[in-house]
Amino acid sequence: MNYILVTGGAGYIGSHTCVELIEAGFNPIIVDNFSNSEKFVIDRIEEITGKKPILLEGDCGNNPWLTDATKKYKIDGCIHFAAFKAVGESTKEPLKYFENNIGSTLSILKWMKTSGCKNLVFSSSCTVYGQPDILPVTEQSPKKPAESPYGRTKQMCEDIIEDYYKSDKNIKALALRYFNPIGAHPSALIGELPLGVPNNLVPFITQTAAGIREKLTVFGNDYDTPDGTCIRDYIHVVDLALAHVSAIQFLINKDESLVDFINVGTGVGNSVLEVINTFEQVNGVQLNYEIGERRSGDIEKVYADASYINKILCWATRKSLEQALEDAWRWQKAINKRAYKI
Ligand code: NAD
Ligand code: WQD
Repeated sequence: MNYILVTGGAGYIGSHTCVELIEAGFNPIIVDNFSNSEKFVIDRIEEITGKKPILLEGDCGNNPWLTDATKKYKIDGCIHFAAFKAVGESTKEPLKYFENNIGSTLSILKWMKTSGCKNLVFSSSCTVYGQPDILPVTEQSPKKPAESPYGRTKQMCEDIIEDYYKSDKNIKALALRYFNPIGAHPSALIGELPLGVPNNLVPFITQTAAGIREKLTVFGNDYDTPDGTCIRDYIHVVDLALAHVSAIQFLINKDESLVDFINVGTGVGNSVLEVINTFEQVNGVQLNYEIGERRSGDIEKVYADASYINKILCWATRKSLEQALEDAWRWQKAINKRAYKI
């Protein structure tokens, strides 16, 4: 039956991944406690794919519960998304982040041992590289000291998975280091649901364009970049979801055990002003924005060398920045229409 356990499967990246898993013939089993997502997402996955994913509502950090709840399935792989991800909040409440992000990963590794599931895809982040000395960033680039407790949880979870692998050569694990996921499903049925004031650029842009925020502040235009604003590697969330399908297929088909770390980005860097201009052009809207102070802790520029993932997972991005920003705006308009609370 090819069941795949998807922790955090109701969240932003998890929900898009469940759609693509179903389209590829897998049966996702979502484990989510809805601490940062909404239940209607499960129905939306069904609306897009025609198939309702199995839902196990609960905390994946609660290992006895998880083991019991999954007993009746033979699960071929686990994609572990569940984590808290707000960088700012993590500096104020570090223990909450260590407890949830590390605790849930330990619980999943223990669950793998008892359930016999051998294949793990873990959600890591380009944040492990900090400001890289050389661009684009390859997987060999050194990890830099984490800028936040959130970033540290990603580094620690990578180390935990690697140490665990050394002790149990039966497992196969890939940590995917995402760059900046943006956009939404083209159906506008699922997308990002930021709680409160968004920290990330694209949700702030769409909320400003929708009149929810008065104006966007560009955090600094005096960086050492062509237009002075910071550069990131923005990847369409559907492309990122497809990378997870490729990763789980790769692990299932592989006979030898392994642990590996893989960048998931487009390989192209875009500045904040390029994102704003592209958003305005493709959507025909004008954005109210101003140049402000630098945001403390911001990385000047970072973008992926995507050649390893292109080769090992035979995966490449299919969608452009333009499509991502069109889909992000379509999603924002859909949220407004349904008067979804933000
Ligand atoms: P999200 O908050 O939208 O999704 C996370 C989901 O996990 C939510 O549905 C939440 O309710 C659930 N969850 C959290 N803790 C849980 C627990 N203990 N048990 C069960 N469910 C739990 O976040 P996202 O943007 O989809 O991110 C998914 C993963 O990717 C996270 O690990 C995040 O750190 C990582 N990541 C995200 C980004 C990004 O920019 N969005 C970038 C790099 C890495
Ligand atoms: C992008 C660019 C801002 C908002 C964060 C996390 C990181 C990772 C990805 C999970 C930057 C600029 C933003 C605004 C702006 N997540 N900006 N005005 O900083 O790359 O990283 O998401 O692992 O850990 O820290 O993403 O979307 O916050 O910012 O000018 O109102 O947009 O300065 O240059 P970032 P972001």
